[in-house]
Amino acid sequence: MTIPDKLLGALRDAQQVCVLTGSGISAESGVPTFREAQTGLWEQYDPHELATPDAFQRDPALVWRWYRWRRELVASVEPNAGHHALVKLAGLVPALTIITQNVDGLHQRAGSDKVIEFHGNLFENRCFVEGCAVTDADMSAEVPVCTGCGAMLRPGVVWFGESIPEAAMHAAESAVHGCDLFFSIGTSSLVWPAAGFAEAARQQGASVVEINLDATPLSSQADFCLQGKSGTLLPELVNCLTVK
Ligand code: APR
Repeated sequence: MTIPDKLLGALRDAQQVCVLTGSGISAESGVPTFREAQTGLWEQYDPHELATPDAFQRDPALVWRWYRWRRELVASVEPNAGHHALVKLAGLVPALTIITQNVDGLHQRAGSDKVIEFHGNLFENRCFVEGCAVTDADMSAEVPVCTGCGAMLRPGVVWFGESIPEAAMHAAESAVHGCDLFFSIGTSSLVWPAAGFAEAARQQGASVVEINLDATPLSSQADFCLQGKSGTLLPELVNCLTVK
């Protein structure tokens, strides 16, 4: 795919770039997206039935087994060319902030520094009752408990039906409102409130770029729609920006 000259021009003129990423950017690292069927041990479970407070209350040991499996999977993979290209892109524009819906930490492992973890982090733990971060729990227990109050511990991620933590929401909104170029990469644009950021950016004058394998509800609204793998298109974009 050829990167449109107009997009390269917009990138050269941009003062603040805001990048929203979803599970598609980590797919090429080997982390399955949320909407793909799960494989192996977990194939009979729907993530929508594991990643909720109700599911956790019903069967915390099951939910913890699933998160341990996901932690091991993510710990065993590496950031891919898409993550690395975003690090390079940040060095080519005056300011770039990533808002990620991913909890895998792969942007940070690739070297990105301005990353807002909109849905939390897979490797953090929080008290199920008080919500505080807990770092010193005995994680070998089937259901680990909070060292402060003895309540169950939960993974530090945002589950379906939960609100986005205020600090992440505030940081993301200010990144969106200050940007003149907005990228939506590897996200199905179905899960709110993140799905609304592209439109909010567009309404305040930013150009919107989508990079996705498939069409999404955002595709018809975007100024530039690059269809393909982020691990191919992002390095291509960075390459064009540096050579042309
Ligand atoms: N390159 C680009 N896009 C890709 C690639 C790839 N290599 N592989 C998959 N995609 C696209 C798919 O076409 C799809 O549109 O990534 C998107 C993944 O969509 P989802 O699985 O819905 O992931 P996401 O948008 O991140 O979901 C948002 O919802 O499930 C919850 O909390 C979870 O953070 C997640 C949120």
